[in-house]
Amino acid sequence: MEPRVYFPASLQRFEPKRMVFSTWVDHLPFAYDLVEALSPKMVVELGVYNGLSFFTFCQAMVEHDIDGVAYAIDSWEGDAHTDGYDDSIYNDVATYARDHYRGIAYLMRTYFNEALVHFSDGSIDLLHIDGLHTYEAVKEDFTNWYPKVRPGGIILFHDVMARIKDFGAWKFFDELLLSEQDIFRFNHGFGLGVLRKPGGPDTNNQLLQLLFSGTEDEQQKLRQLYVHAAHFLEARRQATKFKAMAAGNKAKGGQGKAAEPVINGEA
Ligand SMILES: C[S@@+](CC[C@H](N)C(=O)[O-])C[C@H]1O[C@@H](n2cnc3c(N)ncnc32)[C@H](O)[C@@H]1O
Repeated sequence: MEPRVYFPASLQRFEPKRMVFSTWVDHLPFAYDLVEALSPKMVVELGVYNGLSFFTFCQAMVEHDIDGVAYAIDSWEGDAHTDGYDDSIYNDVATYARDHYRGIAYLMRTYFNEALVHFSDGSIDLLHIDGLHTYEAVKEDFTNWYPKVRPGGIILFHDVMARIKDFGAWKFFDELLLSEQDIFRFNHGFGLGVLRKPGGPDTNNQLLQLLFSGTEDEQQKLRQLYVHAAHFLEARRQATKFKAMAAGNKAKGGQGKAAEPVINGEA
């Protein structure tokens, strides 16, 4: 039988609406496709900061016509790795949520441990763990929140390839790789771990099958695809910016003088 081609929605029509600086940028296309694959009724994010990952989940829910809610949990105080920050970050996220995702996005400004009581066991379809990245903190977040995830639900871990300072998400995820059955790691960027909680109905979703029962070759191709998808998004973003700058220059009467292209980072 011919292998099926995997041509996800992120490659066909995904244009991120919320663009703010975050190392999560490398995983936006995958997040977009994962939400489509899971059709989550409830998404919970632990560690939101300026909302890049969170609002990508929300965008995917809207654009895939999914009838669910997404909870963003953060003290919005910062931590030892982000350093402290002021209220402007929270205010911006709250305004954005109200303006774009009313009725879908709910912000909970509190500590992860204090939010636990608001969620029933087995209620979360997609949990994203992205708070403090020490080994102890990631283990605690996982241990506390795991019961809240439904059988067959997905848990994402950011920064599982970051081996800097006292980051330890990589170490905790390496331990899970030894003990868990349905588990996958994207190695690009700062790394993203994907774990499926055992149980739940069988699925014939192509992405979930590739993640958890693909051959080694298929899984390697999946990793490569999402590396290219992230590069493609960035290249398109820079091209759009360059075009806008060039158009601006022309409007100002700049006789054929092109704007400087942006190679890295913001203009
Ligand atoms: C790495 S940032 C989140 C990045 C975000 N997901 C993105 O897309 O860029 C981590 C956030 O977790 C929050 N945080 C860390 N530990 C926390 C805790 N125990 N309770 C509440 N918030 C916490 C910090 O305030 C910080 O904003």
